[in-house]
Amino acid sequence: MMQSVLKVDRLTKDFGGLRAVDDVSFNVNAGEFVGLIGPNGCGKSTTFNCISGLLESSGGTVEVMGRDATGKRPDQIQSFGLTRTFQHTRLWRDMTVIENLLVPPRHQFAPNMFLSLFRPGSRKAESQRVDLGYQLLEMLEIERVAHNFASELSGGQSKLVDIGRALMSSPRFLMLDEPVAGVAGPLAEKIFENLRSLVRDQGVSMLVIEHNMDFILRSGVDRIIVMDSGKVLMQGTPDEVRSNKEVIEAYLGNDSTSQAAGSGAS
Ligand SMILES: Nc1ncnc2c1ncn2[C@@H]1O[C@H](COP(=O)(O)OP(=O)(O)OP(=O)(O)O)[C@@H](O)[C@H]1O
Ligand SMILES: [Mg+2]
Repeated sequence: MMQSVLKVDRLTKDFGGLRAVDDVSFNVNAGEFVGLIGPNGCGKSTTFNCISGLLESSGGTVEVMGRDATGKRPDQIQSFGLTRTFQHTRLWRDMTVIENLLVPPRHQFAPNMFLSLFRPGSRKAESQRVDLGYQLLEMLEIERVAHNFASELSGGQSKLVDIGRALMSSPRFLMLDEPVAGVAGPLAEKIFENLRSLVRDQGVSMLVIEHNMDFILRSGVDRIIVMDSGKVLMQGTPDEVRSNKEVIEAYLGNDSTSQAAGSGAS
């Protein structure tokens, strides 16, 4: 049985003289829901970009679903079973919300087109995809805008459509970059509950970037990786993170635990 869906070992990324990711190592185990948190500019998105093959890392290795992903292309890594979203959503603005969900992910476009053209029973498969699309919109509470153009959505709604797009591919391992940024508090909590049930009920493994420490501590993740200045500051359960001295100094200073990440760290 596969123990880890992701193994990051001594990952480093330099942008010229700036070391954005500095000797980062962590794992995500199969069936685990893991949060990645840290102040603005600490290297979270760059870590995602190196893992998913969007950026070439400067050092270290990455294994995805037990396969060596170091130096591989995004489409190859996606074919290992990794689906990711981006901090800045990438929707087709001139398509409707439901159309955005039904378009296969970029790198899978060509093969899926072939399948849908030539595979027998494809019409049934297509109607199942449509059903799944509407179910996901309902789960994300945006079914009302199913037929709106993506260009008409608020930032928060776009984020939710992006999550829906990612879930359409029934990923085994999902990496979400700030999925609820700009989403109102109660809905953000509900989305995280739904992500939690995907992990629990469907065995999806998940790594989720979030910028709000208070939120991630209450979000139901199994484990939190805390980054600071390109490095892993600590990793542990929410309780361990909450009581960690360095984390308290960096984030939870004063008497408040409700600060957004970053605001207390500089
Ligand atoms: N393509 C790039 N070229 C040069 N520098 C970059 C590039 N991408 C990121 N950086 C720099 O690398 C550092 C880490 O950026 P990154 O976006 O990974 O941080 P982050 O933790 O995701 O921050 P945020 O919370 O703002 O999303 C920052 O100093 C950033 O300016
Ligand atoms: Mg980022």
